[in-house]
Amino acid sequence: MSDFFTPTTLGRLSLRNRVVMAPMTRSRAGTLDEPTDHMVNYYAQRASAGLVITEGIYPSADGKGYCRTPGLVTQAQVDGWKRVTEAVHAEGGTIVAQIMHCGRVTHVDNKDANSETVSPSAIRARGDMFTDTAGMQPLSEPRALRLEEIPGVVSEFAHATQLAYEAGFDGVEAHCASGYLPAQFLSTGTNQRTDEYGGSLENRLRFTLEVLQAMAAVDGADRVGFRICPGNPFNDLSDENPEETFVALLEGVRDMGLAYCHVIRLNSIPNAPDLDNVAIAAKAFGNPLIVNDSYKIDEAKSVVDSGVASAVAFARSFIGNPDLVRRLEQDLPLSRFNPKALYSMGPEGYSDYPTAD
Ligand SMILES: Cc1cc2nc3c(=O)[nH]c(=O)nc-3n(C[C@H](O)[C@H](O)[C@H](O)COP(=O)(O)O)c2cc1C
Repeated sequence: MSDFFTPTTLGRLSLRNRVVMAPMTRSRAGTLDEPTDHMVNYYAQRASAGLVITEGIYPSADGKGYCRTPGLVTQAQVDGWKRVTEAVHAEGGTIVAQIMHCGRVTHVDNKDANSETVSPSAIRARGDMFTDTAGMQPLSEPRALRLEEIPGVVSEFAHATQLAYEAGFDGVEAHCASGYLPAQFLSTGTNQRTDEYGGSLENRLRFTLEVLQAMAAVDGADRVGFRICPGNPFNDLSDENPEETFVALLEGVRDMGLAYCHVIRLNSIPNAPDLDNVAIAAKAFGNPLIVNDSYKIDEAKSVVDSGVASAVAFARSFIGNPDLVRRLEQDLPLSRFNPKALYSMGPEGYSDYPTAD
């Protein structure tokens, strides 16, 4: 018998099974970047997951990257998220908010006109991003954060955490992967600072450690998780030695009492180095892991049953299968999703996928 469909806890979070819904940006927020009715339905439909992790949510206007993505800054946004968490809790689910500051991975047309595009160093990312105003556009030029501004950016993560708890979330997850702001500080290619936030490995870790400490200080570390993907070149990220960087980060947070580390392996990532991210995290973190990326059910069960991970996150399979847990448990066929509707507006290809019945 497998433990895969049995309950567990990650810090203060209670999971009724080991199936985690991975964070997915779906660009359905309303005109105030607040959760809409469609979002309430979408998350409630998927509440049978042991843990639902929301799409990336920006903690400040500067941190917004993509069009129609939600924030945790204003009262309208808190009120919207309250409706999401209530709907998920009414179904017996557990839900955490993913806090995502995009840093340089943005286009100015997607953000408030008064916001800024900031990064550790003024190095533009190669790549394009969709905008509602003009279609695909080259990513915007960032400016380097001034040293005295950095505590304010750290406190944006804490403020969003506070608002997440006010909105009824069970916990929060810091997005430290995929080339967004913490990853920009961690990596040598994007961090060429010469002050205490750049240069040495210890200095490159500082921002992410301060972010996690600030989030933990809001109401305990055991409601706070973080997501990493060592070696992921997504969003033009490069690091001279990602294994060394992330081992140092994981060892640095090992004794903090955080709820979990959510580690993405490199199976579906193009041009990725040959790193075993799950093994790296298991060894260096020594606390509960959620693992992710292209897991099939047999492999998911074995990574949990072997004790390496506490749970497995699924992203794409949750899009077309709101009842993914039941389908996995009863070996029912999985539905495909419509890729054209990933980031479109409205309920089509979002909250209109049927359950297996
Ligand atoms: C439509 C879409 C949106 C995504 N948005 C996010 C996001 O907001 N935050 C994040 O950490 N990962 C995001 N991801 C990555 C997924 O969480 C996950 O790591 C990836 O899809 C691999 O898992 P899978 O094989 O189960 O799909 C996104 C993936 C997809 C397909």
